[in-house]
Amino acid sequence: MLKNFAIQNQSLTHQVDVEKHKNERAERLMIEQSRLAIMGEMIGMIAHQWRQPITVIGMLTNNALLDIELGELKMDQLVEDLESIDKQVHFLSRTIDDFRNFFRPNKLPQSITLGEIENELMTIVGKSFENNRISLIFEGDKNTHLVTYKNELLQVFLNILNNSKDAFLENRTISPTVCIYLNEAEDKLHFLITDNGGGINADVLTHIFEPYFSTKSEKNGTGLGLYMSAMIVEKHLHGSIGVCSENSTSTFTIIVPKTIDEKGHDVY
Ligand SMILES: Nc1ncnc2c1ncn2[C@@H]1O[C@H](COP(=O)(O)OP(=O)(O)O)[C@@H](O)[C@H]1O
Ligand SMILES: [Mg+2]
Repeated sequence: MLKNFAIQNQSLTHQVDVEKHKNERAERLMIEQSRLAIMGEMIGMIAHQWRQPITVIGMLTNNALLDIELGELKMDQLVEDLESIDKQVHFLSRTIDDFRNFFRPNKLPQSITLGEIENELMTIVGKSFENNRISLIFEGDKNTHLVTYKNELLQVFLNILNNSKDAFLENRTISPTVCIYLNEAEDKLHFLITDNGGGINADVLTHIFEPYFSTKSEKNGTGLGLYMSAMIVEKHLHGSIGVCSENSTSTFTIIVPKTIDEKGHDVY
């Protein structure tokens, strides 16, 4: 009797282990997929950043070639053009570095101010927002600082900003605007991110943090952005994330501790 019980118990433990591993595998797969989705969106942003410098380089080389053909090449003009090309090439290479740094998850919490968050986000989405005539406004004390996993926090902002951009494009919003407000409350910081992109219907609102939930076509949405964002905020940043929608606006709230006091861990 006792032996039977022990065997039963062992098989139950084994079953629990199997299920646990299955869950872990599924979670890892989801994280991978969502990273790929974010990378896809980033490539779109790099394309925006690169459009202008590539046009300039093309124009300068064509002009120089034409001058050579017409026998009108002036050395000082050529030197000036080559210097301009060199400057543009530096810009292209710096963009790649910015994006690459962004993709390295932080191993330790870092100190960052609202001003720095603004600068980092502008570096990444600035051009793409500008090309789509979207205003991005930051409100709050620019010197407020927090100690957190910086890149993870930025990734969450980026997911939310990308969704706002999608909503603006889908609804052809007039004067598309995203506001990021920062409030301090005791040992926590509250970020409110509001857009006027049409809002989110109540029946959609209850599902948006679920994995694979998307109202977009397969090409445009994986449904993993907000699921991943919630996971990052809750599991890695020790905070919480919420959403509400009224009067054709959507507002995401992220509450994070001012300081994450940790020795560091491997993220992903
Ligand atoms: N700012 C927003 N305005 C309108 N709808 C939104 C907004 N943010 C999220 N959503 C809705 O939430 C869904 C899930 O978002 P997300 O998890 O990022 O997946 P995806 O963007 O791939 O669809 C979107 O498909 C969209 O319907
Ligand atoms: Mg998204």
